[in-house]
Amino acid sequence: MFTLISGEKIPLEFHKARIVQKINLLPTSKRLEAVREGGFNTFLLKNRDVFLDMLTDSGVNAMSDHQLASMFEADDAYAGSQSFTRFEDKIKEIFGKNFVLPVHQGRAAENIISQTLVKNGSLIPMNYHFTTTKAHLELNGGIIKELVVDEGLNIKSSFAFKGNMDVAKLKDLINKEGADNIAFIRMEACTNLIGGQPFSLDNLRQISQIANDNNILLVLDASLLAENLHFIKLREQGNEKKTIRQITQEIADLCDIIYFSARKLGCARGGAIITNNKELFDKMKTLVTLYEGFLTYGGISVREIEAITTGLDDVMDEDVIRQSPDSIEFMVEELQKKGIPVVTPAGGLGCHIDAGAFLPHIKQEEYPSGALAAAIFIVSGIRGMERGTLSSIRGSDGKDILSDMELVRLALPRRVFTASHIRFAVDRIAWLFENRHLVKGLKFVEEPSVLRFFLGRLDALDNWDQELANKFIAEFGDNM
Ligand code: F0G
Repeated sequence: MFTLISGEKIPLEFHKARIVQKINLLPTSKRLEAVREGGFNTFLLKNRDVFLDMLTDSGVNAMSDHQLASMFEADDAYAGSQSFTRFEDKIKEIFGKNFVLPVHQGRAAENIISQTLVKNGSLIPMNYHFTTTKAHLELNGGIIKELVVDEGLNIKSSFAFKGNMDVAKLKDLINKEGADNIAFIRMEACTNLIGGQPFSLDNLRQISQIANDNNILLVLDASLLAENLHFIKLREQGNEKKTIRQITQEIADLCDIIYFSARKLGCARGGAIITNNKELFDKMKTLVTLYEGFLTYGGISVREIEAITTGLDDVMDEDVIRQSPDSIEFMVEELQKKGIPVVTPAGGLGCHIDAGAFLPHIKQEEYPSGALAAAIFIVSGIRGMERGTLSSIRGSDGKDILSDMELVRLALPRRVFTASHIRFAVDRIAWLFENRHLVKGLKFVEEPSVLRFFLGRLDALDNWDQELANKFIAEFGDNM
């Protein structure tokens, strides 16, 4: 955050807008229609009806002038593209690893790594899973062991590295189950599902030591690495003076395989798997040609390959990285000032509202996080993402498996929104908080059996959506 002469702290943008996109703030009555048409599911809203799209930070980040310019230099070739050579060289330079495989996005890397390393019954200890990671590991017969430190699941905390892995739990697991039964250890940078929470360099060092001592591979999901680098520099003693490149190199040296979604890291659309292990590279490269494309494009458009290459260089600059975590911190602090319950400390990728505490009168089976995401859209036109029981599944008894946390994620794509956008969001959410008693639960009207949160349709219990909209219109008119 940047401190003004007055002492106030703000997220100061170290970039200026040169290409912009018009967005629309619909009247409240139209937003009500849109949310009903979308079955109270923010995934089913049309973007033209959305004012601030905070659904995700993935594939929707602002690109730099250099990125855009580099896309014009794309060398379109099926094989041997110079664009790929530039991509490979940049990754070697930044991560200091020799073998680079392109993949079309993060989950494609997860597919290839899982197929290469996971056998039926293999254990995969990790700080915390991500949805697509879990799906691919389990598809290959793997069993996930979540070993995040206890503090990681504590919504209100001041612990700086809630994404750390519990070292004692990892040692216990290895002693009990045997290193041979472990496919690999997975660490996720800025652990997404617990609120974008980072691990410390010290924690990664300890995990890497244990992995080495036991001959277990350490795999890093670096999709949210940029923000994790920022937090290490900002919060971890002894790292303040290091450059982002130095910290990146230290992290890379501790890991055997690094993969990432370039929809987040590098602000474009694609991904990669990186290693120094020739044997693993040889195994994985045949799967890349099978699932992704030839080894010099891997399913990524060549223009995007150029954009990722330049984007990776861009994020080695602290001024570039800090815009997103600083904006998130600002949003978290402004919401806290108004008494709104949020995940603390502020992490990477977005601000996470504690829907369980916001709407304590709604039971988890009536989806408080889904109701809050819909209500936020009705009063503001802001699209967030449900991260609670609605995103869970039903057990064999047909009952919902209740999630650990009920959250609504308001993602802040990198360099897209301004401080005024954030103040608008805080203002509307604060009004909603004062009127939270009007919001009630949701019930499914169409419930897919797999990944129901993507395409499921719901309805509002007791027409609360109409009452909420009426109250807002009565106070401010339809067109505020
Ligand atoms: N790993 C992490 C930590 C992620 O956050 C994501 C995607 C992936 C892997 C998969 O990458 O989408 O390129 O296939 N996260 C997005 C999100 C979808 O909205 O948080 P992908």
